[in-house]
Amino acid sequence: MSKTAIIYSFHTQKSKKVAEKIIDAFGKKNIEPVNAEEINKEVFEQFDNFILSAPTWFDGELPNYWDEFVPELEDMDLKKKKFAVFGLGDQKGYPENFCDAIGILSGIIEDCGGKIVGHTSNEGYTYESSQAEKEGKFVGLAIDQENQARLTNDRVKNWVELLNKELK
Ligand SMILES: Cc1cc2nc3c(=O)[nH]c(=O)nc-3n(C[C@H](O)[C@H](O)[C@H](O)COP(=O)(O)O)c2cc1C
Repeated sequence: MSKTAIIYSFHTQKSKKVAEKIIDAFGKKNIEPVNAEEINKEVFEQFDNFILSAPTWFDGELPNYWDEFVPELEDMDLKKKKFAVFGLGDQKGYPENFCDAIGILSGIIEDCGGKIVGHTSNEGYTYESSQAEKEGKFVGLAIDQENQARLTNDRVKNWVELLNKELK
């Protein structure tokens, strides 16, 4: 059976809360939580499927814990592995960089041969530009706890249903 990890920073407030909703929707026994601040190459060798949390920080950039790991990530061969990326962002506060980190991280993964699943519709969001958008869709799940928290539960539920099909 394929093994799935969810990698997020255990020290965040909002991303952690959303990660826990994703874990609950998957069922705790089906998914292994891994702290993004303690990842290493071996973690990427141990699992087949990955759900990665990439909140956007610093006006369109990855948070530090991912940024520091990028050089190691870029050296990996991720062929045969599947990845789904979710990320928190703020479409009113940062409309020109909404959820950019989703697009940045998934681009790096694809360059290493990994397959990105879990694309979602960008309908219902208002922003000017986003690196998460590709061919009119988001390449992962965009969550906005600042402006659309009441939509989060449904967005997570629908995404996990999609991942249950696409991560097989
Ligand atoms: C300094 C700062 C910069 C931010 N830059 C962006 C950004 O460029 N794009 C975006 O969509 N959200 C941006 N945000 C919003 C965060 O992504 C949002 O608050 C998110 O919930 C943070 O999640 P976390 O606390 O779990 O890391 C920024 C927030 C802060 C405080």
